[in-house]
Amino acid sequence: MALLPLNVTLLGYLIAAVCFIIALKGLSAPGTARRGNLIGAAGGVLAVLVTFLSYDLHHLGWILGAMVVGAALGVPAARRVAMTQMPQLVALFNGVGGAAAALVAGLELSGTGLSNTASSGAALVAAGAGAFTILVGAISFSGSCLTFGKLQELMATRPVTFPGGPYVFGVGLLAGVALAVLVVVDAWSDSSIHPLLLIVLALVALAVGVLFVLPVGGADVPIVISLLNAFTGLCVAASGYVLGNVLLLIGGTLVGASGTILTRLMAAAMGRSLSATLFGAFRQKAGGPTGPGEERPVRSGSPEDVAILLGYARKVIMVPGYGLAVAQAQHTIRELADLLEARGIEVLYAIHPVAGRMPGHMNVLLAEANVPYEVLKEMDAVNPEFSTADVALVVGANDVVNPAAKTTPGVPIYGMPILHVDAAQQVVFLKRSMRPGFAGIENELLYDPKTMLLFGDAKESLTKVVAGVKGL
Ligand code: TAP
Repeated sequence: MALLPLNVTLLGYLIAAVCFIIALKGLSAPGTARRGNLIGAAGGVLAVLVTFLSYDLHHLGWILGAMVVGAALGVPAARRVAMTQMPQLVALFNGVGGAAAALVAGLELSGTGLSNTASSGAALVAAGAGAFTILVGAISFSGSCLTFGKLQELMATRPVTFPGGPYVFGVGLLAGVALAVLVVVDAWSDSSIHPLLLIVLALVALAVGVLFVLPVGGADVPIVISLLNAFTGLCVAASGYVLGNVLLLIGGTLVGASGTILTRLMAAAMGRSLSATLFGAFRQKAGGPTGPGEERPVRSGSPEDVAILLGYARKVIMVPGYGLAVAQAQHTIRELADLLEARGIEVLYAIHPVAGRMPGHMNVLLAEANVPYEVLKEMDAVNPEFSTADVALVVGANDVVNPAAKTTPGVPIYGMPILHVDAAQQVVFLKRSMRPGFAGIENELLYDPKTMLLFGDAKESLTKVVAGVKGL
């Protein structure tokens, strides 16, 4: 029996919705992100409690059992995940959200949901919203699983295309929409929907999700995760309509809107339109250097060489990337910066918006080492500084400094704004090998006469450079 009257339920949901909005605001700045996260989580707990107390729930044992299993899987996964693997985790959680919404809508449509709706008009709208939820939720699920596979490198990160791919995708999408319309027609003709129709709709949507993500190159995967996240938000909002649950409507709309904004911001940071991101692989002509090319001479140096370059410079710009995170070298880079500053050298950090593997990755990493926010310079602010820098020290970054983004049409990162490290007097790369970055493209800057390479794990190399600077 429901314990709470309707107005108390709605008040509880309103408070939870306000928590979600405050959480989003908090998450928009590093200083308030942790608090924002906690407020959002509190809103989620309140929403679950209110729901338990407001409805006459059947199958309580199953529901609690599912919650225990979900928590047992989710909590350790979230605790143990390395920061470099966060996008994969987000992709998985997002996919599971889409699948859950699609399953709930499917059960609701194939059960008694429609006959419970007040009028036949409302029943048709509910059928439409339910079909939309199944279509989009299943696309989001299979698409998210594939993005997980690409980021975890369980499959090729490069775009996977095949002749006629865009047509197969187009036909699949049209078939999905047609099946969704059939669901509404079926509901209209006899107010019950054949479960087989819903199953076929879900299977077609799963295939569309796979075809949607296959042609996306590794470097663009984060944008697609954000877009699928927006899709999941929209289908959760639609399932809120089907279930008559106002909080699902609000929460889903917030996720849909914020996911859409993030998608646009990330596409802009990578200098490409969304359509180029999603369908660019079909238009690409082969071209540009990809993967490790033929053996060519490079100028490699010792930690002592790098220490001398840095120790006698006037201005040094640190360029952190994914490799810094892998090596967990954030404290060592800070130690080096402190040493250089103590010698009167100006030190800045150049932060590319998609350096690393998630939005804000470098900011979070360097904040861990207490690098002050003021010395972290966003790309547009720092780019003019490179021409006056004596040394650009690139630590585990590659794609975000690769001039191919400016010079080589056809490569996956073409058009992405990059950090202009090539404008510095000297460039030093700290990396382990000549392997390319995430996008799999060779970097001509590694062969430039003004570039020196210090091979090795970033933390070990930085530790040796620190020792070298101390010895000057
Ligand atoms: P990458 O282009 O991936 O380059 C990373 C470099 O770090 C590689 O050259 C690698 O070379 C080196 N490295 C790896 N482990 C290392 C270690 N332990 N010590 C020293 N070096 C190490 O990274 P980036 O320049 O930061 O660019 C990010 C890329 O990821 C972009 O293509 C971006 O689109 C994509 N991406 C971004 C996001 C977001 S939102 N930030 C999410 C997913 C993907 P070695 O193997 O030779 O050491």
